Amino acid sequence: MLNRRTFLKTIGALSAVGIGTVTYGVVIEAGFLLNTSAYAFTPPRWTPGLKLRAVVIADPHVVEPFFPLSRWQNVVEVAQALEPDVIFMLGDYISGIKFGTSAVPVTDIARVAAGLKAPLGVYSINGNHDWWSDSEAQRLKQGPPIIQRAFEDAGIPVLANRAVRLVKDGYPFWVTGTDSIISYILPPDNFQGTADLPATLAQVTDDAPIIHLAHEPDLFAEMPDRVSLTLSGHTHGGQIRIFGSAPLTPSLYSRSHSYGYIIENGKHLLVSGGLGTSTIPIRLGVPPEINLLELG
Ligand SMILES: [Fe+2]
Repeated sequence: MLNRRTFLKTIGALSAVGIGTVTYGVVIEAGFLLNTSAYAFTPPRWTPGLKLRAVVIADPHVVEPFFPLSRWQNVVEVAQALEPDVIFMLGDYISGIKFGTSAVPVTDIARVAAGLKAPLGVYSINGNHDWWSDSEAQRLKQGPPIIQRAFEDAGIPVLANRAVRLVKDGYPFWVTGTDSIISYILPPDNFQGTADLPATLAQVTDDAPIIHLAHEPDLFAEMPDRVSLTLSGHTHGGQIRIFGSAPLTPSLYSRSHSYGYIIENGKHLLVSGGLGTSTIPIRLGVPPEINLLELG
């Protein structure tokens, strides 16, 4: 049986572990770590001979003090050093954490992002927090959200239900991007999306492979076989991942599709663990990452 001294010692030890874990999660893992997670594979319906080196950046949630502009600048420099052919940014540039934070101007986030350069270009999509943080867009139920305008002003195309055709070494491929599926908050507990997958894919005019950018992995369930690879973020890999499970991931679908390279019914999905945090400024067991893809 526990005596009083043993009990107090146990409580003290557990408190120390708890404080240490939170400190590690906020300061070390979320604040300083930055991994490059590399994947090399050939997606289905891919063109033989097409070799593509792509960098994926997701969910920075830039905000003082948890993800300051200096850290965003560091991410840009690490991504550039990988010398990709093309760069994909998967949304949620703005933070959802209001308590104890101060917002970073969208023009500053876009100015730093504009430092990303690649021979085939840099392409972005909006995340739900990019919509949710724009009170005017929420009030009017109309976009584009301010971060999209800031990115476009900085010369970064935003594929909000748009498709672009690119060519690498003579081999064409498409990059398509849908908007968020939960763009507008409808109290008390509902959402309305602005994603239009059919209209986006209707812009594809030939048989070249398609890489699709969708902020929320939930859209993967509706992805036709025609799409070679879907790239998503949103989940932060679960953000807190204990023994392979991520209990805080927002939707049941996201929970089962919260991280990594997933092949399902012949369709391919890669969910980036992303960079930042939402709800609480802690990451545990899933360090911030950018992704390097060697396709083909
Ligand atoms: Fe998100």
